Amino acid sequence: MIEEPLKHLQTINREEFQKDLISWFSREQRDLPWRNDQDPYKVWVSEIMLQQTRVDTVIPYFNRFIEKFPTIDALASADEEDVLKAWEGLGYYSRVRNLQTAVREVREKYEGIVPDTPKEISSLKGVGPYTAGAILSIAYSKPEPAVDGNVMRVFSRILSIWLDIAKPSSRKVFEEAVRELISKENPSYFNQALMELGALICTPTSPSCLLCPVREHCQAFEEGVQTDLPVKSKKKSARKLTMAAAILFTEDDRVVIHKRPGKGLLANLWEFPNFEVGNASSGRKQLLQLMEEEYKVDCSLKAGVVTKIQHIFSHIVWDIEVFVGSVDSNTLEGSELIAVTPIEMEKYAFPVSHQKIWQETGAGILQK
Ligand code: ADE
Repeated sequence: MIEEPLKHLQTINREEFQKDLISWFSREQRDLPWRNDQDPYKVWVSEIMLQQTRVDTVIPYFNRFIEKFPTIDALASADEEDVLKAWEGLGYYSRVRNLQTAVREVREKYEGIVPDTPKEISSLKGVGPYTAGAILSIAYSKPEPAVDGNVMRVFSRILSIWLDIAKPSSRKVFEEAVRELISKENPSYFNQALMELGALICTPTSPSCLLCPVREHCQAFEEGVQTDLPVKSKKKSARKLTMAAAILFTEDDRVVIHKRPGKGLLANLWEFPNFEVGNASSGRKQLLQLMEEEYKVDCSLKAGVVTKIQHIFSHIVWDIEVFVGSVDSNTLEGSELIAVTPIEMEKYAFPVSHQKIWQETGAGILQK
């Protein structure tokens, strides 16, 4: 049923809208590596990477990932450690752990062929409605909506929809709008054109309406309200955590690292030992105490903070004070910590914050 927010659906000229949008995309689309073929696996990898990550950042990761894991079978058979390493720096690591779980299911349950029905594809781990619609339309030419934040922004303007796009319930309304307007002849180009329009023309703060191929169809432009849309409520501000981390060297210049738990933030990535500390002024003392209590290792820390790192996640801010010290390697045995050489360390996947910690401290110390 068409609800009030979609009242402008009745007046838009569907055929002309589709034609203008798709012919613009045919002319102007960027040459992106995942557009070279319609392999559903590659479309899938690209769409997972593109969630929460910019196109420019994704390109080199995509190329390296596909070179390393060119097929469903290659990714399904890979070591999780190598897969995380290939994702290192992209963030939101559960994306790639879910992807590997899902391709294993595709190999086992669907003989290695990505399923082409909404029901089956949506049942795969990490495949939400957006990803399902993107794969079905781009790889299989099915007229399914693929609605993410960018598409909601574009459609909120074209149809002058004043729903809060930060609310999960709004997505369904936008999906309904796309279902009504999508081209049955070329759903792949239709959906990709919406993404491209959102990236190149219909941008968040200053849309380039004068260059827009569908300006004539745009209700917001007609009303002059394009910069008032979309309506998007602010999410609550991130929680701040004060942390202290230790770069600890053994007698033979190995470095102590720790594997994070298999669940939660940055699951299964490696890090330098660190803890949340009540307040920064007593960070060193608390860190020493916690190393002893949690890991039962015998270590010492030099006085003074070597560097401070801030890392901003979507919902948490880490303020990390970094200390340097030494550890008695005999006391590492049986703890959750291991000591590796700086060369060996390159095989392990670290979160960006801990890569920075190493760049700004340990790497320099060893060069001295
Ligand atoms: N953003 C999300 N999916 C995309 C795609 N396939 N191409 C370009 N940008 C995108």
